[in-house]
Amino acid sequence: MNFKETFGMLREKLGEWLPESDLRYKADLASEINLLKKEKNAVILGHNYMEPALYLTIPDFKGDSLELSRRAAETDKDIIVFCGVRFMAETAKILSPEKLVLLPAEKAGCSLAESITGDDIRALKKQFPGVPVVSYVNTYAEVKAETDICCTSSNASLVVESLKTDSVIFLPDEYLAGNVAKETGKHVIFPSKLPKGQKVEDLDYQLIGWHGRCEVHEKFTVEDIEDVRSKFTDVVILAHPECSPEVVAASDFSGSTSAMIRYVENTVAPRYLLLTECAMGDNIAAENHDKEMLRLCSVRCPHMNEITLEATLNSMLKDQYVIEVPEEIRVRAAKSLERMIELG
Ligand code: 13P
Ligand code: SF4
Repeated sequence: MNFKETFGMLREKLGEWLPESDLRYKADLASEINLLKKEKNAVILGHNYMEPALYLTIPDFKGDSLELSRRAAETDKDIIVFCGVRFMAETAKILSPEKLVLLPAEKAGCSLAESITGDDIRALKKQFPGVPVVSYVNTYAEVKAETDICCTSSNASLVVESLKTDSVIFLPDEYLAGNVAKETGKHVIFPSKLPKGQKVEDLDYQLIGWHGRCEVHEKFTVEDIEDVRSKFTDVVILAHPECSPEVVAASDFSGSTSAMIRYVENTVAPRYLLLTECAMGDNIAAENHDKEMLRLCSVRCPHMNEITLEATLNSMLKDQYVIEVPEEIRVRAAKSLERMIELG
């Protein structure tokens, strides 16, 4: 798409919300990025949480963590530019070590990935010898290297059930663990949160969780849901499984970011409320003008928001920020990711 086409498309999809001067500026940045992408033989992967103008213009592939991991493993381009957060770009590097992988922001972290280290997981393995470890992809490479199999929000229960063992260590999201436990009929414990004097050996458990939380999804409450339902009785509420089990139970649907997008696109309801990063509601509204999307927009992921069109252009001009993973860690981390991808 050249500048004129990009601008026209942005005006059609976002003209209701953004002034023409903004749309021109963004179309200009996007056109420059798309030219550079061709010149450098690069592919751009964009997570569903990217802001609308970026989301609509530059990614070759958009999706949730699982879909983008698959794309990263398959690409034949020389450079992968990851418009998402660091653990996602790291996953791309682990799966495609011969490629140059760029993240447009220096940090772009994630509260879940930062909640657990390789040492934490080694200590848990000592405490529960022989129990397999499932780690959410929202973790860094050193944690994946200690993991038997990874999972994402779209396959967490499937991965746990595929192990067919009495118990599973499931890390690091406390709420996702609670939601998976409910879905699979297992009982979950959190060894790091046991009351003083309580011994793990005395408890009945099948899932062993950790105390990590997504700083975005932990903010949604059952009161938010009740409040919106009292004002809009016909609203359909969707919650990401990183929300608390109480919030998920009070919602109408729960699934990965892509599963939520598909749900809205394939159903007819007077209005929807998404309990997830707010930009995704904007993206659905931009692509589906007939859908009314309610949002609680005070809740944004500061890490995803570091990735802008300006940062992506800079990243491609300067080849920054290069993602590296030490080979010894990468090889072990790749096994846990490949095992998940093979599961289908
Ligand atoms: P998805 O895998 O559902 O896209 O989730 C990623 C994420 O970081 C949600 O906060
Ligand atoms: Fe991490 Fe939450 Fe941001 Fe997703 S939304 S990247 S889980 S902090």
